[in-house]
This record gives sequence, C-alpha cells and structure tokens, in this order.
Amino acid sequence: MESNNLPLIKSAFGEDFYWGVSTAAYQIEGAHEAEGKGASIWDVFSGTKGKVKLNHNGNLACDFFNRYPDDLQLMQSLHIPNFRFSLSWPRLLPQGYGSVSQTGLAYYNRLIDHCLELGITPWVTLYHWDLPHALEKLGGWTNRKVIDWFQEYAALCVKHFGDRVKHWMVLNEPMVFTGAGYFLGVHAPGRRGFGSFVPAVHHAALCQAIGGRTIRSLQPEATIGTTFSCSHIEPLRSTEKDERAARRVDALLNRLFMEPALGLGYPLQDLKFMRRIEKYMLPGDVDLLPFNFDFIGVQNYTREVVKHSFWTPFLQANLVPARKRNVPYTLMNWEVYPQSIYHILHQFSQYPNMPKLIVTENGAAFPDQLLDGQVHDPKRVAFLQQYLQQVLRAKAEGVPVTGYFVWSFVDNFEWAEGYDPRFGLVHVDYETQQRTIKSSGFWYRDFLKGEATVAAE
Ligand code: GAL
Repeated sequence: MESNNLPLIKSAFGEDFYWGVSTAAYQIEGAHEAEGKGASIWDVFSGTKGKVKLNHNGNLACDFFNRYPDDLQLMQSLHIPNFRFSLSWPRLLPQGYGSVSQTGLAYYNRLIDHCLELGITPWVTLYHWDLPHALEKLGGWTNRKVIDWFQEYAALCVKHFGDRVKHWMVLNEPMVFTGAGYFLGVHAPGRRGFGSFVPAVHHAALCQAIGGRTIRSLQPEATIGTTFSCSHIEPLRSTEKDERAARRVDALLNRLFMEPALGLGYPLQDLKFMRRIEKYMLPGDVDLLPFNFDFIGVQNYTREVVKHSFWTPFLQANLVPARKRNVPYTLMNWEVYPQSIYHILHQFSQYPNMPKLIVTENGAAFPDQLLDGQVHDPKRVAFLQQYLQQVLRAKAEGVPVTGYFVWSFVDNFEWAEGYDPRFGLVHVDYETQQRTIKSSGFWYRDFLKGEATVAAE
C-alpha cells in the first residue's frame, strides 16, 4: 500500500491537531420517553415492524442518558480530549418548536458540565437525523417551514449551551438523511421518491448555511462546521460511460451539499436530473446557500466503484459491491480502502475557498467477541492505523486537515442495521449495559499518550 513512511505517532500530526471520538444522540442515549421529550422520526420508524433489522430500536440503546458520568470517566481514562455528540431536537423541543423541555435542557447542561469538569471538550452536532415526529407530520424536511423551525432550534441551543460549547456542527451528513430517509425510504421517516427527495435536499442545504449564520450571529467567537459523508469514487473500467457514471455519483455523493455551501451552487452540470431543484428555489435563495464555515467535517469509511447502468433511474449508474470485487470489507459490506480518505481529503482541499478539514468520523464494524472479559479486535486496530496513516500522508502533502474523530466511542444503534454492526472502541453488552474496552480502545489510548506504532500492512 502507498504510504508516506512516516511513523504513526501523535506528534507527527502537530500539537494543535484535534483528537476525539464521535457519537449521536439517537444511537446512544435511550430514554426515548423521558419526561418532557417528544417522539423523533427514528422512534416512530424503529417502532414500525420491519423497518430496522430484527426490529431493533433505540429505546434504551446504550442508556447513555443515565450512564454518561461513567462513560465520560471511561473516555477520560482513555485520554480522549474531544467528544463529538449530538443534541436530540425533540428532547429539547418536543413539538419541534414552541415550548421548551426543561428536563431536556437540564440533561444537556449536566452532560456539557460533566465533560468540562473532566477536561473533555464538547463538539456538538445540532442535527444527527432525529427530527421531531411532530414536524414530520407537517412535511418534515420537504416543508420549507423547516427553515424557521431549525433556526429556532439552533438559536435555543446556542443561547443555552453556547457559554460552554465552543465547537458546533450544523448537520450530520445531509446526503444520507435526505437520500436514505426521503428517496430510498430505508431510514426515517421512510419516504420514497424524487418528489420528496428534491425539496428535502434544498431545504437541508438552506438550513446548513442558515444554521451556521444563526450560530455566528449569537456566538461570534464559536468554531462552526458541518459534516459530509464522502467516499473516493472510481469507475469500474476506464470507458467513457463508466467514467461519466463515476462523475455523476461523485457529484451526488460528495458535492451536492458542499458546493452550495462554498458558494458554487448545486453541481447541476454533472447532475442534470437534479435540475428540478430549481423549482424549489425562491428569489434570494442563491445568496442564502453559502456560509463561511470554519471547518468542514469529512466522514469517510470506504470508496465506491461505479459502473454505467442504463436501467438505473436518474443516475444511470450502479455501485459495484465490495463482495463482488474480491476486496476486504467490513460487516457493513464496505470495502476497506485506506487510500480513500487520502484521496477525498485531497479532492476537497482543491476547492479554492475550502476551510480547514476535520475528519469527524472514521471507523469500522467487525464481528467482535467478548471472551473472558476481553474484546480482541485486531482488524479494527489495523483499520484505524491504516486510515490514520493516509490522513498523515495527506497532511504531510499540505492538505489542511486539523483533526480526527473515531466513529465510535461505544458500540451503538446502527440505524437500519440495528445493534449487530459494532463500531465502538468500547464494547457494550446490551443485556447488562456492561462496558468493556476493546484492544482498539487501548491502542487509541496509547497512541493519544504519545506512543509510536507501526501501521499494520
Ligand atoms: C455515518 C453516520 C453515523 C454512523 C456511521 C457508521 O454515516 O453519521 O451515525 O452510523 O455512519 O455507519
């Protein structure tokens, strides 16, 4: 594998590099019916038979709502300085707007205070997919009113937590929550079709920038980012058809939300079928889409290999599954391809006005086993080392990457896949809620303490 031959040691990334772990509210908190909380679209979706594998749901999840003091203690014991988590919108605003839940506010106040007491810096995502169900009943992301609802929610969060939270992320992976939730129907709220997808995209892109501006206006000194799912894209064959198909997939998966934020508009040149979005653009929207983010959150797991497919509606392209390519892959069927993160960091850094990049998620699900009170997960250790090596390679070549967060701190509810895929540095026994630090957790601790490692081949 191409590498930069630099030893994998924390100091090589520089003193001011941000190291952390990432989570999301619905995936860890549980307490789905805690006093004052409204239902989210994920409560409703996972409560509907047949939507999530084995009908799993996030009702209890990792019970982080009650166990956060112990979990933060564990995080501190692993020398992890930065903790990315999201706020649950319906825990704070049960109806999505209007009356505020005091219990919800008190919970996040306790959580943030506790982080700070332990010397852990909170990095807070405003929206990680758990829209209040009350808003979905009004059309959710397809209703342009979501802009007002989101602005109210963002302002509430900054007003109550901005005295202590200095790092914000507006949205988590808008391409995934609009694509999987409003086009494919495989994530909450389970809507399907182009007619839902296109307005959801436009409103999410507007909220991305408007959310940024809301934070900036109330907390000018805050560091503000937003996050994108992204994968290095390659054509299956070097034919013109596959290459053009790969370009369309790249525009859809990697560029659709980022380019409007950067002031470049939607990449409609390469995505002709998205032209219908213009129908939802009101006068002045062009100026509302950009925002000067302080950083862009890069969330990378794999690469995608693409082939032309005449029969696939709109995109006329298919992703070739890793299983069919004779390459290593994870429990999510995602190819293990460390160079993907290197290529995508380079690709993003080529935009002239790109701010700093922070890897806000990277990690892998492998079949872990708890044996004699231990979880030995060498594949995850190798995965993290190899991807980090590629981050360092990009950084050494001048890409302005300034942080890296592992997905995830603990095993958690993996959306439509339920609890089977485990991504944590810490194992969770869902019967007992017992936590066990995996070998990967110990490796990350030692790395963060400054010990050098050699990335496994
Ligand atoms: C991301 C998502 C996370 C987590 C991760 C692993 O797309 O933001 O919530 O599920 O993937 O699949």
